[in-house]
Amino acid sequence: MKSRIILNAFDMNCPTHQAAGTWRHPDNQAWRYKDLEYWTDLAKLLERGYFDSLFMADVVGVYDNYRGSAEVSLADADQVPVNDPAIQVSAMAAVTKHLGFGVTCSLTYEKPYLLARRYSTLDHLTKGRVAWNVVTSYLYSAAINLGLDKPVPHDERYNLADEFLDVTYKLWEGSWEDDAVIRDRERGIFTDGAKVHPIRHKGQYYSVPGIHLCEPSPQRTPVIFQAGASGRGREFAAKHAEGIFIQPGTVEQAREVTDDLAKRAMQFGRTRDKFKIFTLLTVITAETDEAAQKKYEGYLSYSSGEGMLSLFSGWTGVDFSKYDPDQPLEAVNNDNSIRALLELLVKIDPNRRWTPRDIIKHRSIGGLGPVLVGGPKKIADELERWVDEGGIDGFNLAYAITPGTFEDFIEHVVPELQRRGRVRTAYEGNTLRENLLDSDSPRVDDTHPAARYRGAYTGAESVADSTGPSPFASLIAAE
Ligand SMILES: Cc1cc2nc3c(=O)[nH]c(=O)nc-3n(C[C@H](O)[C@H](O)[C@H](O)COP(=O)(O)O)c2cc1C
Repeated sequence: MKSRIILNAFDMNCPTHQAAGTWRHPDNQAWRYKDLEYWTDLAKLLERGYFDSLFMADVVGVYDNYRGSAEVSLADADQVPVNDPAIQVSAMAAVTKHLGFGVTCSLTYEKPYLLARRYSTLDHLTKGRVAWNVVTSYLYSAAINLGLDKPVPHDERYNLADEFLDVTYKLWEGSWEDDAVIRDRERGIFTDGAKVHPIRHKGQYYSVPGIHLCEPSPQRTPVIFQAGASGRGREFAAKHAEGIFIQPGTVEQAREVTDDLAKRAMQFGRTRDKFKIFTLLTVITAETDEAAQKKYEGYLSYSSGEGMLSLFSGWTGVDFSKYDPDQPLEAVNNDNSIRALLELLVKIDPNRRWTPRDIIKHRSIGGLGPVLVGGPKKIADELERWVDEGGIDGFNLAYAITPGTFEDFIEHVVPELQRRGRVRTAYEGNTLRENLLDSDSPRVDDTHPAARYRGAYTGAESVADSTGPSPFASLIAAE
């Protein structure tokens, strides 16, 4: 049987995400990112198209290494201004029933105790439809504005991330027993303290002795998404992620990455069905191939080459203004970058190395990922090829204009994929985890590292153990 193709919309709370310059297109509504209706309309649209989730990227710094400042990024609105990715989610949840929400948060600058509360809150308010896209950050500008002299070194960010996740798993899975909240009006007990446990975490980076602040949410641990491409990043993904976001340039590169991830996951006792892999693509479509091509050319006429190089300079940590337009790219090892991106770009064409001119030519619309242009049949064929030959499970679909790119996909491509039995025609489960992983439980599976804390503190120290005698006992009894 052919596998179901997962569809996520890839977006960000800003006027330009991947396609620099297209905010100027008259049909592009992305500049309305600060209107709640813009987000609620988008959520309804995506649910009508049976998307699995809206995947919200985020950065907490600006792209300022191109020509040594943020001027180009600001003029071009390249991922700046950028609002918080999580705050509109509860409004979107209120107008939908099934759509999931992947919310990016870089743990490098967070505290596990607070982050665990934020995602539990979102999981409650969405009724179990939230994922955390765990990222470790790459922007120098983020590090220095968040109180560091310099960014945490690349591999150390992942060591820190491992411990961070461990702390949040303890809070989400272990701290509160399922039946801790009893809401007993007669006895005046909302929560039974004997069923709430301090996690007593003391590690290399974090100390969290106490209890989780939230009662258990439908999924407890949010679905874990991850986007990191280096060897260390993939190892981390193979251990923790239930949705892995990759950005290969070709189907062949996708196959290499997916095989590698499957192999790495085995070392952690996780089989390939326990996580889904999505790749980044932009799809420009219309009724026919010709109409789609015309549309694509229209978008290209609004694209910004300088803006694109500014984004790529931020992503790779290389200031492309210092390059000649025809100078072949080199894979440099840069701590402040999406490390494997340059490696993949360098190898994208087997016959020659890409140059800055190629980035402008081929990625002005797609950004980090490739672009497919065509009518419904051509696109559906290509998407099936990516899945069947590349070993992936689905796509994070970026836009050239929004919501236009998503509307076109839902109008033209989704029905074609439904006819082929490749995308859903109904949502089966209630929570994101059930829908995404075709799982019959909203909770993490037994091989996931969070599962080890399920019930781990039951019978151990609880809040009730440290309760002293009531100094008011006689007073209360007398009354
Ligand atoms: C496809 C993809 C998407 C990413 N999206 C984000 C993002 O939205 N926000 C962010 O801070 N980092 C993002 N990252 C960066 C990674 O989380 C990671 O910090 C960075 O790539 C460095 O790790 P690596 O060398 O393992 O790739 C993304 C990386 C990839 C490959």
